[in-house]
Amino acid sequence: MCGIVGYVGPQESVPILLEGLRRLEYRGYDSAGVAILNGEGLKIRKTAGKISSLEDLLKTGGRPTGTLGIAHTRWATHGEPTTVNAHPHVDCTGKIAVVHNGIIENYSTLKKKLEQEGHKFTTDTDTEVIVHLIEKFYDGNLEKAVAAAVRLLTGTYGIAAICTDDRTKIVGARHGSPLVVGICDNEYILASDVSAIIRHTNQVVYLDDEEMVVISPAGIHTSTIREEAISKKIETIDWDLEMIEKAGYQHFMLKEICEQPQSIRNTLRGRLLPEEGMARLGGLNMTAAELRAIQRVVITACGTSWHAGLIGEYLIEELARIPVEVEYASEFRYRNPILEPGTIVLAISQSGETADTLAAMREAKRKGARVLGVCNVVGSTIARESDGGVYIHAGPEIGVASTKAFTSQVAALALFTLYLGRLGELSPEAGTELVRELEAIPGKIETILAGAESIRQIARANAHHNNFLYLGRGVNFPVALEGALKLKEISYIHAEGYPAAEMKHGPIALIDDSMPVVFICTQDSAYEKVLSNMEEVRARRGKIIAVASEGDTHVATKADEVLYIPRTIGPLTPLLAAIPLQLLAYHIAVERGCDVDQPRNLAKSVTVE
Ligand code: G6P
Repeated sequence: MCGIVGYVGPQESVPILLEGLRRLEYRGYDSAGVAILNGEGLKIRKTAGKISSLEDLLKTGGRPTGTLGIAHTRWATHGEPTTVNAHPHVDCTGKIAVVHNGIIENYSTLKKKLEQEGHKFTTDTDTEVIVHLIEKFYDGNLEKAVAAAVRLLTGTYGIAAICTDDRTKIVGARHGSPLVVGICDNEYILASDVSAIIRHTNQVVYLDDEEMVVISPAGIHTSTIREEAISKKIETIDWDLEMIEKAGYQHFMLKEICEQPQSIRNTLRGRLLPEEGMARLGGLNMTAAELRAIQRVVITACGTSWHAGLIGEYLIEELARIPVEVEYASEFRYRNPILEPGTIVLAISQSGETADTLAAMREAKRKGARVLGVCNVVGSTIARESDGGVYIHAGPEIGVASTKAFTSQVAALALFTLYLGRLGELSPEAGTELVRELEAIPGKIETILAGAESIRQIARANAHHNNFLYLGRGVNFPVALEGALKLKEISYIHAEGYPAAEMKHGPIALIDDSMPVVFICTQDSAYEKVLSNMEEVRARRGKIIAVASEGDTHVATKADEVLYIPRTIGPLTPLLAAIPLQLLAYHIAVERGCDVDQPRNLAKSVTVE
């Protein structure tokens, strides 16, 4: 949610800042801007629209030169996505510029006070109070002024600030919105996400909450916002540039869908013990005795990660026989949850930065619960603040609609289930079967991907509909929810997911020949019942698209279209059933001319409440 890049070094900054913004555009893309410091002072260029609009502006409106600058791509929270509200924002004197990610919750009180003191505000943003506060405290030392300003802020911020009085320095500060510094020879890149850094270096320093950084050609200096110096570890990022590029695919989303055989192999790598029918998970930081003492698992997450959590509930309850509750992080954090001894909390998050999930996790820790993170982004806040966890190792996910992270989250939850189950009641035979079936999943996904053309045809034939219903039972109910979410996120078609049997309690009223119903109807225990639900839809002339088990010819007599998937054991079906639904949503969105990787109003990483 919003992206920040800052550069200081020997090179021209604008190309580096623009390239960084492009890498971060998936985090927010409604307006963008740069501020450059050069011999003439502060040069600001900003505009509503995507990074391409900023590039056009820099072509036509003059491109400032200078070796120090900050830049921002915005996802509006306070104030419409206009040019005026785009970052960077400047103070009354025009000497200080700031870019900001996050939300300042006490901005109206601060704004009122600053206005009374004579500061003139020109935007509708919450961010503008930060630059005026820095102006208020500025007496020749930018970092002191930034520290004094941010100490007054309530809410979340990742900021970068520059000042014409010191043309060699960028000051960054963070609370709740990530900031990371890339370290090269005599040059530094400050960014909200390592994607903007990886082209230049894999050596980084992550800031923690309430920490600040000053970067200049002279070096990097880190401190707390209370101005105590701190020394930070330089960490190495283990991805490369190729992993965040499209590699010939039309969209990141399609690339990421097609990467799933590999991303799931990466999730499983080194973690399956076929001979023992067991899993190995090194990062849980829990002894076998502590794991055996778990009485209840609470899973908290948002969006697609929450759907993975629901699948985790089925897996853990069925195979490890431990009660599970799954709760939206935004609800969990505010409802004083009961966390008795013996409860562990799993916080699932691709980005590891989602504000609600982070807050839920902190609330759980405050209440004394042990929290395990299930994250993709290594070094992310949730990963660092949890007591232990499982990295899903899906690799960078750029498409706003999550695909490969979802299946890797489910695979990681299956590993966790196997581990927990085998420490308890799960038999060696059942464990061995789970291991064998998990190992076979990537190859089965390859089979589904090989037949993707037929999914494209079905998508074409159905792209004109404005409503879809997705139905599934048992572990396939969350798959229905995720299928509907994918479709609405990227094609703007209204889509709902329901447990198939619940259809008769409401959604059945909607069914007619203009409402496709997507059934996940694999041959498991609920098969016959789902077939009956299909009949109910057929009787009302609803159009049926079924995801069915390979070789099931019976379902073809009831459905208009069938998307076949290979067979696996019931609990692992979601890993296969999700794939055709991702492709269906993708092709429908492409057919409707939608911007698949940057759907309107959404952001990849939601670091505000
Ligand atoms: C946003 C993204 C979703 C994602 C959700 C949770 O809404 O658009 O794709 O599922 O945030 O994100 P997380 O990084 O915590 O998994």
